[in-house]
Amino acid sequence: MITRLVFFLTAFFVIAGCERLEKLFVEEDLLERPPSKRCADCHQKIYNQWKTSRHAQAWVSEEFIKKTKNRTKTKCLSCHAPLEVKAGEKPQLRDKLREEGVNCFSCHYREETDSIHGPYKVFSPPHYSTYNPEYTSARICSGCHKKTYDNWIKTGSNKNCQECHMPSKKDRLIQKFPFMYFHSKKDLHNHSFLPLKADEQDFSITVVYKGKALMVSVKNLAVPHTVPTAQQGKPKYYLQIKGFERKETLLSESEMITPENGFEYKREKTFIFYVDKKPDEVVVELYRKLSWKKEREFVLKKRLSID
Ligand code: HEC
Ligand code: HEC
Ligand code: HEC
Ligand code: HEC
Ligand code: HEC
Repeated sequence: MITRLVFFLTAFFVIAGCERLEKLFVEEDLLERPPSKRCADCHQKIYNQWKTSRHAQAWVSEEFIKKTKNRTKTKCLSCHAPLEVKAGEKPQLRDKLREEGVNCFSCHYREETDSIHGPYKVFSPPHYSTYNPEYTSARICSGCHKKTYDNWIKTGSNKNCQECHMPSKKDRLIQKFPFMYFHSKKDLHNHSFLPLKADEQDFSITVVYKGKALMVSVKNLAVPHTVPTAQQGKPKYYLQIKGFERKETLLSESEMITPENGFEYKREKTFIFYVDKKPDEVVVELYRKLSWKKEREFVLKKRLSID
């Protein structure tokens, strides 16, 4: 193994002396919008993550097929199978490999430079690369996640989408032996585009009893866009409340919150529940349902006593 590595390193430095180094290693099909599996020949880890992401489902999603009447609503298609992603622009629909949804080349290849764009200045012999600072800005997401982006801008948050939805760790960008050892470790951003889930620390909840009513106030303290948030999907949040008097249930009610009036960042929202009798304890629960999931998920539960 070590001798092999030394051999390759020697070979590499000999070749590095030659001017046509770049041309020597170029694999031309990489700049011809190949299937994402092709990128996995070197970027295996990123490919495996992307494969599990909703971006990889954008064209084949059951709900999408249904809502677009079997993909006949043309205005619905371009963000779900884009040709090229550019900061702040709604993309164009592509012709081939639509089943891959929002795939590698749509986010990274640019015809104008005939190269792969990304967040680093790299030495990438198999394909030309162009450093492009847009990749570390929320604007790269904004052409498609327009509503969420506009909402995020208003919060004035200094955290961008990638910091939460593409968390990074130091690793190699490629896994192909032995070439991986010619490149330093960098921040590798998680390409599963995690939908994430808010938790107890992200919300403050208070309950006040006043004139036969329980007023439940909920505030989104931490997520710098409305929760839930959507462009076209219909994710939902549910608030459920149970009142107790000496451990016995007095009331059980629930209320649904839709995307249009979800929990805005740092803005309190109050729900009123009328009750016959004042409880001494109230249990508040939040649940959510993502657009593409059938079942509800538990988010949090808080037990509060009433004075
Ligand atoms: C501007 C880009 C854009 C356009 C145009 C667009 N979508 Fe989407 N779509 C998105 C984004 C971003 C999401 C992910 C966030 C969300 O859930 O809304 C999404 C998610 C969805 C979802 C939920 C996820 C799923 O697979 O179940 C459905 C359904 C959907 N879109 C249907 C449509 C329909 C129907 C149209 C046309 C009326 C449309 N889209 C047009 C960007 C777009
Ligand atoms: C929705 C758009 C999108 C898709 C799809 C996508 N990427 Fe990325 N990629 C990004 C963004 C944005 C960054 C930069 C993140 C940052 O620096 O904050 C990035 C970064 C990278 C990097 C540099 C290392 C890193 O993690 O920062 C590589 C390599 C890369 N992507 C390869 C791929 C490959 C291979 C695929 C397909 C398996 C792919 N990308 C799919 C948006 C995308
Ligand atoms: C034969 C190996 C190989 C294949 C296949 C390959 N790449 Fe790369 N790629 C590299 C190397 C090497 C680097 C530089 C890595 C480093 O510096 O850590 C790189 C870097 C990148 C970067 C970072 C560029 C930047 O400026 O930040 C992106 C994005 C990227 N590749 C995307 C892709 C995509 C998309 C595909 C498929 C179309 C692909 N790569 C296929 C070898 C490959
Ligand atoms: C080309 C358009 C496009 C771009 C650019 C894009 N997305 Fe998406 N994104 C979508 C679509 C379409 C979906 C919904 C796929 C589905 O479920 O059918 C989606 C889904 C998601 C989801 C999952 C939402 C859920 O309900 O689970 C997250 C998280 C996400 N995107 C984050 C990002 C981030 C962060 C960026 C920028 C780095 C980005 N996206 C760039 C189109 C895009
Ligand atoms: C401080 C971290 C943070 C930042 C910054 C952030 N988000 Fe989120 N995002 C979250 C959390 C947490 C959730 C899950 C909320 C929940 O419980 O449903 C979420 C949910 C989402 C979802 C929906 C998944 C679903 O269906 O519930 C999308 C799409 C999304 N974010 C896109 C974006 C985009 C685009 C940006 C940048 C403009 C962004 N986010 C910035 C933390 C963040």
